[in-house]
Amino acid sequence: MNDQASPRAPADSKWLRVGPLEAIPPRGARVVHSRAGDIAVFRTGDDRVFALLDRCPHKGGPLSQGIVFDNRVACPLHNWVIDLEAGAACAPDEGQVQRFPVRVAEGTVYLCLQDSYANGEALI
Ligand code: FES
Repeated sequence: MNDQASPRAPADSKWLRVGPLEAIPPRGARVVHSRAGDIAVFRTGDDRVFALLDRCPHKGGPLSQGIVFDNRVACPLHNWVIDLEAGAACAPDEGQVQRFPVRVAEGTVYLCLQDSYANGEALI
């Protein structure tokens, strides 16, 4: 889920300040550690941002280390392709990755964590 049109920083405490967008390489990702597990925050080539659990639905590969193209990432282990917006594996593969709301406001990336997952630690 993206809400990148908002120019203001979110006031809700569920939104974790991840760091500047520029700290995430284009067509790359950074990892946020949380109680939900590691969350991969991706930046596409056209500066869209998506957040998925950093765990491939195939055999748990680290999606954050995959190759980002368009709005997709190719898993580094066996090359499954995951749609970043839907969190779904692309056909012919099948699977779903947990998505997290993410937004960019004033050049800063924010990640929304549920109450039980709060106290995440941004590493970028
Ligand atoms: S673990 Fe990702 S494709 Fe196999």
